[in-house]
Amino acid sequence: MQISAAALLAVVALSVILGASSDGDYSSTVAKVKTVKGKKLCDKGWECKGWSKYCCNLTISDFFQTYQFENLFSKRNTPVAHAVGFWDYQAFITAAALFEPLGFGTTGGKLMQMKEVAAFLGHVGSKTSCGYGVATGGPLAWGLCYNREMSPMQSYCDDYYKYTYPCSPGAEYYGRGALPIYWNYNYGAAGEALKVDLLNHPEFIEQNATLAFQAAVWRWMTPIKKSQPSAHEAFVGDWKPTKNDTLAKRFPGFGATMNLLYGESVCGQGDIDAMNNIVSHYQYYLDLMGVSREEAGPHEVLTCAEQVAFNPIKPAVTASS
Ligand SMILES: *[C@@H]1O[C@H](CO)[C@@H](O)[C@H](O)[C@H]1NC(C)=O
Ligand SMILES: *[C@@H]1O[C@H](CO)[C@@H](O)[C@H](O)[C@H]1NC(C)=O
Ligand SMILES: *[C@@H]1O[C@H](CO)[C@@H](O)[C@H](O)[C@H]1NC(C)=O
Repeated sequence: MQISAAALLAVVALSVILGASSDGDYSSTVAKVKTVKGKKLCDKGWECKGWSKYCCNLTISDFFQTYQFENLFSKRNTPVAHAVGFWDYQAFITAAALFEPLGFGTTGGKLMQMKEVAAFLGHVGSKTSCGYGVATGGPLAWGLCYNREMSPMQSYCDDYYKYTYPCSPGAEYYGRGALPIYWNYNYGAAGEALKVDLLNHPEFIEQNATLAFQAAVWRWMTPIKKSQPSAHEAFVGDWKPTKNDTLAKRFPGFGATMNLLYGESVCGQGDIDAMNNIVSHYQYYLDLMGVSREEAGPHEVLTCAEQVAFNPIKPAVTASS
């Protein structure tokens, strides 16, 4: 009994080592399975570690491989791009691995998993595109062209947070990463979650693609306000809209992720370019991953054109004012 358990562990360890060394093909990883109080939990080694129900499903590298990443971001290493050589598949998968046991890309069946990866990367692509359109490949082929804001007009230090997230002398908190983060308080919160001192070293994000993706997946997985869902929860349907949400036309789906991440700047204004650009990246990535666009749902689920913002900048004007 003891011998066979040890042998099993050795096989698992060996498969992890083989998986990690075989350059992009991790699908051979063996799952360890146990049942706790009638619930099946799994551990798949480095990509989905730590006894989670989510780890019993496919992992991201099982359905999203190097060549697909290369297809989605085909122009990122052309000489005119601004982050040549920075972004790669390995960094994305390594970053995703931190959140796969929590459900990132591992929730629901394969279709939902693929849709979530396309949705997350759709946000990433639209935020990091340099949109060199017409000439080559079309405007949607230029995701991951940037890894930082090029000409920041300020250092994004908000003194309101000087006790919780004090700005480090000389540090600049301009936009960096795969879903660019701005401001000392966002660097501070991301750094706490990822256990990296981003408040004193915001530049780490533009020096390390794994960290740049980790901060992005963290943003996707973490509610911005405690009372609200994360983009992940809103996308996969782990969020149940309240009556107010329904009245505000907020439904689970891609539209709600734009609402949570960007609010009024893209939502509730009809079919504006700022919103359509994000939607188009998502649809383009669905195409390239072989998922039908119809799987993204009807207009009111796919977009936030008619949604009231979760967090309006100005409070709604009341009838009596
Ligand atoms: C795992 O995948 C199955 C379908 O293959 C799905 O029904 C189930 O909800 C998934 N598990 C989790 C925890 O999302
Ligand atoms: C990049 O960031 C990851 C995640 O924090 C870390 O594990 C890795 O060591 C970093 N790489 C370098 C070269 O600093
Ligand atoms: C629903 O909206 C009304 C009017 O804006 C507000 O007073 C109420 O607090 C909201 N309820 C919840 C649960 O958010």
